[in-house]
Amino acid sequence: MSSVTENVILKVCELGVYFKGRGGFLSGSREGVWALKSVSLSLERGETLSVVGESGSGKTTLLRALLGLAAPTTGSVDLWGRSLNSMTDDERLQARRRCGYILQDPYSSLPPTMTVLGAVLEPWSVVHGSLFRDEGVSRAKKLLAELKLPEELWGARARYSLSGGQRQRVAVARAMILEPEILLCDEPTAMQDVSTRGEVLEVLNRRVRGGMSMILVTHDLLLARRAASRALVLYRGEIVDAGDADSMLSNPSHAYTRALLSALPRL
Ligand SMILES: Nc1ncnc2c1ncn2[C@@H]1O[C@H](COP(=O)(O)OP(=O)(O)OP(=O)(O)O)[C@@H](O)[C@H]1O
Ligand SMILES: [Mg+2]
Repeated sequence: MSSVTENVILKVCELGVYFKGRGGFLSGSREGVWALKSVSLSLERGETLSVVGESGSGKTTLLRALLGLAAPTTGSVDLWGRSLNSMTDDERLQARRRCGYILQDPYSSLPPTMTVLGAVLEPWSVVHGSLFRDEGVSRAKKLLAELKLPEELWGARARYSLSGGQRQRVAVARAMILEPEILLCDEPTAMQDVSTRGEVLEVLNRRVRGGMSMILVTHDLLLARRAASRALVLYRGEIVDAGDADSMLSNPSHAYTRALLSALPRL
């Protein structure tokens, strides 16, 4: 096996996800939707891939399918050389634990009754029980400090007492406490201002330099370019453009990428 193949930790072949229409008298169309159509991609160790595309293009569905949270209608997802489909429930759980997921909506992704520290600690406690609790607490505090969340907020209720940007940084810490090998980020900095956006990105990049792989879904093309060496553009569930992030997004050759770029606000 060549070293390039050995480094591929995630491989997606011809992935399609079809959602059946909800139907019903008032809820509109009975027709379903192909949220993803024949998507193929791979991700290497220590690599970041940016995924851009307009609203409804299938970005969140892609991340969910990679974790087995949206079932593939066609095609396959391989993690560390094993197909998700062929794994037992336990193996799938173990594989998922090696992945972090920053959900698009930090409000609903944070437990309603937990404090900030408790919410960051929770994934650690689920895996380690009360054993190594002190180590979990110290990791959680370190992460919150690294993400510049003021210490006086660590005891506040995560869902209700924070600003959108602060809540999002708690969600980032929560996804990172188990030191994932693959981090799937759905708009992880959408609620940050320009300076905190840079800080959050630097925290993520530090992990990538340490060998973590990342898929970064974003509407922010500047961020997509800064964060990743490769990027792909989704349009109505299909990859319409893919390649080197810098040249693709600075000098787009594909018509849709050009349209996407011209439609977005620029700094
Ligand atoms: N659970 C679901 N049931 C039915 N349809 C769904 C479901 N989830 C997503 N869809 C549909 O699949 C398509 C892709 O949705 P998805 O959430 O992946 O888009 P997105 O690119 O993440 O959009 P945004 O940028 O707004 O977050 C949309 O047409 C959406 O309505
Ligand atoms: Mg989305």
